[in-house]
Amino acid sequence: MKRVALLISGGGSNMLRLVESMTGDHPARAVLVASNDPHAGGLSKAAALGVPTVAVDHKPFGKDRAAFEAELLKPILAAEPDVVCLCGFMRVLTPDFVGRFAGRMLNIHPSLLPKYPGLHTHQRALDAGDAEAGCTVHEVTPVLDDGPLLGQARVPVLAGDDAATLAARVLAMEHQLYPAVLRRFVAGDKTPVWLG
Ligand code: GAR
Repeated sequence: MKRVALLISGGGSNMLRLVESMTGDHPARAVLVASNDPHAGGLSKAAALGVPTVAVDHKPFGKDRAAFEAELLKPILAAEPDVVCLCGFMRVLTPDFVGRFAGRMLNIHPSLLPKYPGLHTHQRALDAGDAEAGCTVHEVTPVLDDGPLLGQARVPVLAGDDAATLAARVLAMEHQLYPAVLRRFVAGDKTPVWLG
């Protein structure tokens, strides 16, 4: 059985979908949900599902990313994960941290990468007049929102969309894509998943 740690910063809807997917004959189980925000809504939801949780507040560390990551790393290493899933984890990770989980850390990003790495992806897609938007799951490398593609889901941009309506349509696909990719990934298959 593969062990999966999940990192969140907010509501954790992607995390919840992943945790809920890891039951029955699924070859992995959630062993830890960690957040950089002690108030992240996802923490109590994960705990309610019986998953151990931990919060390491990044704020006291200021700009010292290495010190923050050293604290974050302790409970993660203690949980002995085979795979780490970033689920709306909004801290940039140093190459050192990423390197510890090379080839076994996944991220979901709300754009059709390589388009729109970083923030405000939906507004940027709207501003560009794109006819479609979507989300991407990829292996994490030291370059932000880069790394080998593991899956992508597309949605149409509709007339009258604003960033919120587009984000909601994309999020619904995120909830399908990430569990599908993780299941394949933990079975040793890195063939990309294509949805939409
Ligand atoms: C998701 O849309 C995810 O793709 C995005 O944050 C949201 C988290 O929602 N991630 C990023 O922007 C990472 N750069 P959730 O907490 O409900 O899963």
